[in-house]
Amino acid sequence: MNEHRYQHLQTNLERLKLTRLSERLDQLAEEAAKESWTYVEFLDRVLDVEVSARVERDVAMKTRLARFPFVKTLEQFDFSFQPALNEAQIRELATARFVAHGENILLLGPPGVGKTHLAVSLGVAAIMQGISVVFFTVADLIDVVQQDVKDDRLDRRLHALCTPKLLILDEMGYVPLDQRSAQFLFRLISRRYQKGSIILTSNKSYGEWGDVVSDYVLATAMLDRLLHFATTINIRGESYRLREKRKAGVFHDLAAKPVKGNSSPTRKTQEEEQDETKSRYEDV
Ligand SMILES: Nc1ncnc2c1ncn2[C@@H]1O[C@H](COP(=O)(O)OP(=O)(O)O)[C@@H](O)[C@H]1O
Ligand SMILES: [Mg+2]
Repeated sequence: MNEHRYQHLQTNLERLKLTRLSERLDQLAEEAAKESWTYVEFLDRVLDVEVSARVERDVAMKTRLARFPFVKTLEQFDFSFQPALNEAQIRELATARFVAHGENILLLGPPGVGKTHLAVSLGVAAIMQGISVVFFTVADLIDVVQQDVKDDRLDRRLHALCTPKLLILDEMGYVPLDQRSAQFLFRLISRRYQKGSIILTSNKSYGEWGDVVSDYVLATAMLDRLLHFATTINIRGESYRLREKRKAGVFHDLAAKPVKGNSSPTRKTQEEEQDETKSRYEDV
């Protein structure tokens, strides 16, 4: 290639901010010459390099904006550990067709069974398809609602939470909702109804929602909208966290060696206590 033309091309690529292409140009030109690509093929390859760079950047940006507590994919989920879970159904949900139809997903089950992992994985899968996602725990939502009331910007928050195509609300039921937060959640669910999808995870059966929001009428109205176009997935299996701990012998050690200076019976870990709530799911 003529040196002057090469410099000119690199300058233009820089001006157009086509950085990935600028880096790959030499390699592409060599391959094109060696394999006698047609002009169309060359152009196609050139655009492909830049488009994939942009998709990568878009995925990285959307992942940051989603504010996931951790980033995990379906590939990291061990389906053999939850044999009752329908893997084909989860993989279908990962196509994000439910988002196109404004449908919801409810992931129910006791602590540690992978609800958050699955919700995040479905969020990541949606992002791969260009869908905007925001993740919130219900506890964090309560906090921001309290602050927003003080700052008089609750409506702005509602608008912001209606903007992403997919909203993940994690851990409904761990913290009771005060009246204001419950009403805000109801408005949020109503606004998004049939327009923007919600993935909600909960350790509570639907029958217990009245206690969580301290208002049975509001709880019924929320569930009515959430469940109208929704897939409910009950995960009834064992806690993955506890299995890992059992394997590491943590529980065995706790039982065998009472803590020195503490005459009270060995305290249960928070997870053990939470795990005992498992039996409540049988009637979800
Ligand atoms: N089937 C599974 N395969 C791989 N990792 C799992 C599985 N289930 C849970 N985990 C992991 O165990 C931990 C607890 O899971 P999490 O999704 O937070 O449970 P939950 O939200 O139901 O309490 C996470 O680190 C998660 O990635
Ligand atoms: Mg969780």
